[in-house]
Amino acid sequence: MKAPQPIPYQGSKRQIAPLILSYFPRDVNRLIEPFAGSAAVSIAASMRNKAKYFIINDINSALIDLLEEIVNNPQDISLRYEKLWLEQSGKEKEFYNDIRKEFNKTKRPEHFLFVMARCVKGAIRYNTNGKFNQSPDNRRKGKRPANMSKEIFQCSELLKNKVSFYCTDFSNILERARGNDLIYMDPPYQGTCNARDSRYYSGIRFEHFIDSLDSLNNRNVPYIISYDGRTGNKRYGFDLPDELHLHKVDVEVGRSTQATFLGNNDITYETLYLSKALAAKLQTGLQREVSLYNNQMSLFNQNYA
Ligand SMILES: C[S@@+](CC[C@H](N)C(=O)[O-])C[C@H]1O[C@@H](n2cnc3c(N)ncnc32)[C@H](O)[C@@H]1O
Repeated sequence: MKAPQPIPYQGSKRQIAPLILSYFPRDVNRLIEPFAGSAAVSIAASMRNKAKYFIINDINSALIDLLEEIVNNPQDISLRYEKLWLEQSGKEKEFYNDIRKEFNKTKRPEHFLFVMARCVKGAIRYNTNGKFNQSPDNRRKGKRPANMSKEIFQCSELLKNKVSFYCTDFSNILERARGNDLIYMDPPYQGTCNARDSRYYSGIRFEHFIDSLDSLNNRNVPYIISYDGRTGNKRYGFDLPDELHLHKVDVEVGRSTQATFLGNNDITYETLYLSKALAAKLQTGLQREVSLYNNQMSLFNQNYA
């Protein structure tokens, strides 16, 4: 079964989730996602029984409300999405604009799901006043209700009764982590990590993030971080400091769209950092570079076997 993804989310880690799961130690008590977004890694981890319990957090309350509805009230949210999807017929563009306005007023989960399903590239964008301002993709109507409902129910099945949701700054969540948990962190991209980043609801301060990682190291809590990357020789964001003693893995994910457009062969890499406590638990020799580009299938077979 392919991992369900009811929330269409640009930047979701669903594609590289199998690789991320391959770094999970045995017997993870709680998988903690402080920057959950669409919770793609928790969903994939539950599908492969990689953790007993899940803590899902994001600073964006609308995202957390929607995830909670999907997990705890799958029937209701499926029906409300279907109603909106059918109502748009013949007036798609105006209807999208009305629902987006309504979402900005009331933050209702079904409105959020609808605008995300219909907006350009599933890319969340906010203006400086915190209002969702992404335009509709006029070539698509959004995921069909039957498919949406199927993914919602699958997701609910995977997480129901084994998840707690939070909406707070990541650092409050990290304080509660213990040595038999595993934390997966996918913070906002550093290249645009500031208060005016319109891709995500909020940015984080680099020093604050580093202090939190240092505290996890002192408490021997294992963690994995997805952190910026590079295209060709162009690197995004700062490297994480050596003092944190992290094991860095460059993951070759493919050719960048921009490079393809410009006719060159630049390959895009994402970086994963594994904490020292995690590397010690894994015991096997850890590679420095992994390719998803040339041998995606073998990687998938290996990890989903
Ligand atoms: C790169 S996205 C995560 C994508 C996710 N891995 C997925 O597969 O969908 C980063 C997330 O961090 C959240 N975020 C930003 N600042 C935060 C903070 N200070 N504390 C918690 N979450 C934060 C954003 O709202 C965004 O959803």
